[in-house]
Amino acid sequence: MAIILIENLDNLKLEANDLSQPLLKHFQTNHLDWMHACGGKGRCTTCKLKVVSGIAHFELPTDAEERYRRQGTLAKDERLACQAKINSDIVIRVPEESKLPHLRYSD
Ligand code: FES
Repeated sequence: MAIILIENLDNLKLEANDLSQPLLKHFQTNHLDWMHACGGKGRCTTCKLKVVSGIAHFELPTDAEERYRRQGTLAKDERLACQAKINSDIVIRVPEESKLPHLRYSD
């Protein structure tokens, strides 16, 4: 089990239980809406998140993430929620471009 803390959602804490699943699945299990325009297939970057701390607790980037890194659309401290898996606690933020209009962010 790991804790996902989302700073700009009022420090919302979510539990991630099945760590074989990517972060997007944990958001969905916890009923948190998170943008995922391509349906979680690694074909867009709308599910992007910013890592605040715990970057060492992420598994290695997937091929899709590496492709966006090379294209310059995914920074070193950014991951795709539908791709990235974690093995321990992390702190993240929702970047401006991934915010949903019906949610209230605390930044
Ligand atoms: S939802 Fe499209 S890349 Fe993650």
